Amino acid sequence: MHGAGLRVSDLKPQDRPAVEAWVAGLSEQTRYFRLHGAVSSDASALVAPLFVPNPQRLVVLAWEDQPNGVVVGGAQCVLTPGPAEFAMVVTDAWQRRGVGTRLLDVLMARARLHGVRAFRGAVLASNHGMRTFCARRGFAVEPSPRDHATVTVQKEFPSAA
Ligand SMILES: CC(C)(COP(=O)(O)OP(=O)(O)OC[C@H]1O[C@@H](n2cnc3c(N)ncnc32)[C@H](O)[C@@H]1OP(=O)(O)O)[C@@H](O)C(=O)NCCC(=O)NCCS
Repeated sequence: MHGAGLRVSDLKPQDRPAVEAWVAGLSEQTRYFRLHGAVSSDASALVAPLFVPNPQRLVVLAWEDQPNGVVVGGAQCVLTPGPAEFAMVVTDAWQRRGVGTRLLDVLMARARLHGVRAFRGAVLASNHGMRTFCARRGFAVEPSPRDHATVTVQKEFPSAA
């Protein structure tokens, strides 16, 4: 199933309990890849920054598209001059089912409306899943200049048709 059975929405204040439950259920490895080693088990503290109003931050969530469906993934970017910094994470049991692809498509479309022309992200060098995901999506994957532990992924958006 690739991207089917999903609903993608912008983060809303009332999503906080669902987001906390989602983050609490992520495996240590998935948290490690997303947070680059800062593996806290305090989901409430981890998600708190997302709920501080910040017009520079865009966050989209993927939900199971069914009554009482839970959050299964999220992606965010920060609107900085130049490429917007992005990151994403998908629930372990939902990985390799098209969730990340859907999230990235929606986040790019949202970002484009804010004038963003490129995404950039820092990915742990050991995170072969995200490196392959990005390469498949046309990102350049390059060593980070001052940090052997991470690689930089970057993609210019195609021109609008
Ligand atoms: C990396 C991640 C975001 C990808 O999301 P996803 O929903 O699993 O990705 P998709 O199902 O949309 O995958 C699309 C393609 O990317 C590639 N890909 C994704 N995960 C992969 C993996 N673990 N190994 C190899 N290729 C992978 C595949 O080519 C895949 O297509 P296929 O399944 O038809 O072969 C997700 O696995 C994840 O959350 N990982 C842990 C957290 C993380 O690493 N976040 C990134 C830090 S910014």
